[in-house]
Amino acid sequence: MDLSVTIAGVKLKTPVISASCIDGKDGTRIAAVSEFKIGAATTKTIVKNMQKDVMPNMKMVRGGSMINCVFGTNLTAEQWFRDEFPIALEAGIPIIANMAGVNPEEAIELAKACEAAGASFIEYPSACPHMGNVLEAMYPGLKVELPEVNDPSDYARQIEAVKKAVKIPVIAKFSAIYQLDCVRWAKAVEAAGADAISAADSIGPAIDIDIETGHPVLGGPKGYGGLTGPAIKPLVLKMVLDISEAVNIPVIGIGGITKAEDAIAYIMAGATAVELATASTMYGYERYEEIVDGIEAFMKRKGYTSLEDFRGLTHKKIAERYATGKQIIQDITLPVHDKSKCDGCGSCYMACAYGAIEMGERYAELLPDKCEGCGLCVSVCPRKAISQNYFE
Ligand SMILES: Cc1cc2nc3c(=O)[nH]c(=O)nc-3n(C[C@H](O)[C@H](O)[C@H](O)COP(=O)(O)O)c2cc1C
Repeated sequence: MDLSVTIAGVKLKTPVISASCIDGKDGTRIAAVSEFKIGAATTKTIVKNMQKDVMPNMKMVRGGSMINCVFGTNLTAEQWFRDEFPIALEAGIPIIANMAGVNPEEAIELAKACEAAGASFIEYPSACPHMGNVLEAMYPGLKVELPEVNDPSDYARQIEAVKKAVKIPVIAKFSAIYQLDCVRWAKAVEAAGADAISAADSIGPAIDIDIETGHPVLGGPKGYGGLTGPAIKPLVLKMVLDISEAVNIPVIGIGGITKAEDAIAYIMAGATAVELATASTMYGYERYEEIVDGIEAFMKRKGYTSLEDFRGLTHKKIAERYATGKQIIQDITLPVHDKSKCDGCGSCYMACAYGAIEMGERYAELLPDKCEGCGLCVSVCPRKAISQNYFE
């Protein structure tokens, strides 16, 4: 079974990449996570003048999602090039240098240094919408403009400049705040020469509040942070679907991947590879390996021999809806209940918005006359005892 992928001529042994996050904080951490079947590893954002983080800077919000206001790397660029890259390169997998400059000249200088240090790719983030607020408080008088979400031209110019400065491939990393206009952004960076697009960085600014004290849970002037993890997956999955349809360069899906099923969904949406950050931070490096193994098990079960067998499958299914007149279905297909799988937990009964499920002595009972066909019961059943098929 072949799990390898190629991005801009660089071969990765698996499609799972450690994202720019705590697992890319230094060479030693990259070497440690590389033991867990990842195809490539990404550094935390390398900047010329690093900042000390404000505290506290990471909080779990519901369901394994997180808000954070972590800056880029806590090491100087010099430390990266002198000490960390040599250690990271020992891992023997491609290293993606995530880096940012405060102006194009600085970005070019850093990109050249990352290439010289042995990076296989540059990943160039587009914006961190929650950071301006913190930086303005650190440097009174500084004005950090919010990015213009409808106008990719400035970012595309930066991509073009970085691209011209190095020979290694350049990945444009989008913020999730561009989700509505992501196709325009994708076409702009493709025209500017980007070799791939990774989507997405966190969405924000976001906030959570400690109701015992009333304080925002994060540090900084207002406690703003970027939201990551499972909460953003449906939104970023849609970005990846739209972007991969619009451009001819590879797309890397990032956002809320906690298990193999999430990674598979991104590949079906058209992603060539995936990155994850929050899940490995919260649940350990083993998560990478579990996801790789889970993709392999899924492929075995489905009879797939390569990722190409299902990459972009969702694009085909969407085309089929059009071809078979199933874009708009308004007739109800009743759900089918397999009582041999039902353990009477009552999840479907609680969720049914139409009172169409009753609890019998041992099992849930579906009431066809009241069912409105919505499908919610299918998705809440933990034992997959309810099915419903509108499309196949
Ligand atoms: C604690 C933390 C720190 C992060 N630091 C960076 C960073 O330095 N540079 C960057 O481009 N993205 C950074 N990210 C964003 C991640 O790379 C990723 O795009 C985002 O978290 C969505 O993926 P996830 O849902 O798997 O976490 C960070 C995310 C987290 C949670």
